[in-house]
Amino acid sequence: MAAVTDRVTVPMIRTSKRREGHEPLVMITAYDEPFARLVDAAGVDLILVGDSLAEAVLGYPSTLEVGIEDMAHHVGAVARAQPRALVVGDMPWMSYHTEPFEAVRNAAKLVRAGAGAVKLEGGVKRLAAVEAIISAEIPVMAHLGLTPQSVHAMGGYRVQGRAVTAAEALVEDAKALVAAGCFAVVLEGVPDVLATKVTAEIDVPTIGIGAGPSCDGQVLVIHDMLSMGNRPTPKFVRRYANVGEIVTEAVAAYAADVRIGSFPADEESYHGSAELKERFVGS
Ligand code: KIV
Repeated sequence: MAAVTDRVTVPMIRTSKRREGHEPLVMITAYDEPFARLVDAAGVDLILVGDSLAEAVLGYPSTLEVGIEDMAHHVGAVARAQPRALVVGDMPWMSYHTEPFEAVRNAAKLVRAGAGAVKLEGGVKRLAAVEAIISAEIPVMAHLGLTPQSVHAMGGYRVQGRAVTAAEALVEDAKALVAAGCFAVVLEGVPDVLATKVTAEIDVPTIGIGAGPSCDGQVLVIHDMLSMGNRPTPKFVRRYANVGEIVTEAVAAYAADVRIGSFPADEESYHGSAELKERFVGS
């Protein structure tokens, strides 16, 4: 999809199956305007304003700590970059777990902030919310497998669908979500063979994170792949740059320059007129 200059749309994503000859989809997280601009310039297809915001940017221990207003605030920042990529806003925990009406109202907050679609975690338990949001004309991306909002129910961040019954249930969840109208399914932390099976069984793209190479696309948290995080990175993360180290080195160099008086230099200063100079400094 990299050669297309028009904005990426939900219908374009919905049909992007590798088995139909499409290139793998590239999704990455971003949470603010500068990073949205940078990742868009790199040609990604989708920008996910993930609830990983909580850990990656806001310093919380889990994604359970952010609410819909936090998410809308950051979706707005990303959307102001006017990316070509489709902006997907993540629905945080408890924003779609009660009444479908509440789910629609909260999804609308992300759309009003600039998202072109929303993502939410869970299988058939979330069908009522998914159906209500889709019937309000808001496209929904599903998220199955290791769903971080279920950390307590899962007993930790563990690979899901290792047992045959659990794997079969996940395949059924994926089919039900697609039947309800989801335009893509994120598969996180599942065995590669399960991801292969889901990818073969559904007609919308799967986007994997810790789900092996057979998905129709991949997603990573940008702070993990740039080594900007302060937490151990999972096995599935490939580190493409050590931006954390670059930032620390640059700031240490700035601090040293300030302390030895070499910053700012003459050419980094504004100069007054000859009259001002004579009056204030003398000749
Ligand atoms: O919040 C997030 O960044 C996500 C991705 C890990 C898929 O949900």
